[in-house]
Amino acid sequence: MALEFAEKTRRIPVYPVAAGYSLGADVTMLASNEAAFGPLEPVVEVARHAVLGANRYPDPSYMQLRRALSDRYGIPWERVALGSGSCDLLLAAGEALLEPGAELVYAWPSFSMYPHLAAASGARAIEVPLNADAVHDLDAIATEVTVATRLVLICNPNNPTGTALPLEDIEAFLDRIPDHVCVILDEAYVEFSLTVGDPFASLPLLARHPNLVILRTFSKVYGLAGLRVGYGLCGSETFRIAVDQVRQPFYLTSAAQAAGAEALKYQDEVERRVVATVAARTTVTDALRERGLWVAESDANFVWVRLAEDGGDGPVVDALRERGVIVRSGTALGGPGFARVTLGTDAENARFLAALAEL
Ligand SMILES: Cc1ncc(COP(=O)(O)O)c(C=O)c1O
Repeated sequence: MALEFAEKTRRIPVYPVAAGYSLGADVTMLASNEAAFGPLEPVVEVARHAVLGANRYPDPSYMQLRRALSDRYGIPWERVALGSGSCDLLLAAGEALLEPGAELVYAWPSFSMYPHLAAASGARAIEVPLNADAVHDLDAIATEVTVATRLVLICNPNNPTGTALPLEDIEAFLDRIPDHVCVILDEAYVEFSLTVGDPFASLPLLARHPNLVILRTFSKVYGLAGLRVGYGLCGSETFRIAVDQVRQPFYLTSAAQAAGAEALKYQDEVERRVVATVAARTTVTDALRERGLWVAESDANFVWVRLAEDGGDGPVVDALRERGVIVRSGTALGGPGFARVTLGTDAENARFLAALAEL
């Protein structure tokens, strides 16, 4: 007899994972918004050291990493939530906050995990279209907030479009949202954003909005996507307590905790990576626009480019893959006709542009 799964299992959309992992060495992976740079040597060293003690469970209070983040951002450790990647925190937020009858509001297209939260919990998802410039429409989002709303997700800069809102707009938006509604400001790409300015700029919002959680990750500028470490800086302790309640006690490995804490020490290198990424962003955006393609104004480590009429992105993405360049088809991300291209090294970006020129 076939297994009988819970109804929610049928509802949860399959996450659109990147293709190309099995294609071998001569492939340029520009599909997952990872860093083109590897982790730094001292970070690798502390992770190696942690693995030597892997017969023991990790510290379930995650105190070294919580304190490192608390020291850097000036937020008490009690208001630092952690997760096995920020995806883990998003899913835990869905589990802790949502249930049938509750509502969740977010822009669309936005990060492809967001629809999971409603599907897994039975809550209602309200997807508010981006405006014509592929930017969040905060007015329209605020209008959708009702007594049933438990959670609002704002992705800034937005994945997959890369577009960012100035913090004044976010602040004015937060003023319109009732205090019982949790707002997660997903800043996975904030370090790359010239519009936001720097990763400290949004922190003052926490003092004024206890319902706010600023979500961050070590997967992007810190180059630790494979170790899975994310964090949330919270306006109040209650969010951290709730998301810790719905997860297993050891959601972060000892190597991940140690690597995250160590990685924070090398901010000069982070700065260098940001400068290189911003330069690559300008080069790739200009080159695509010179070909007459529409490209969203990106503030992240990827660009969102219109390749074809609705649905026509698939053949272009396939043809790029045949040339060894893996980018993400917009169709899977809620934007048929578009592709999302992660910025790689100069050589990788040049390979992408050369492959596209052949098509
Ligand atoms: C907007 C956004 N939020 C969160 C994440 C999750 O990242 P991670 O789980 O690796 O921390 C991603 C990953 O691509 C993302 O684009």
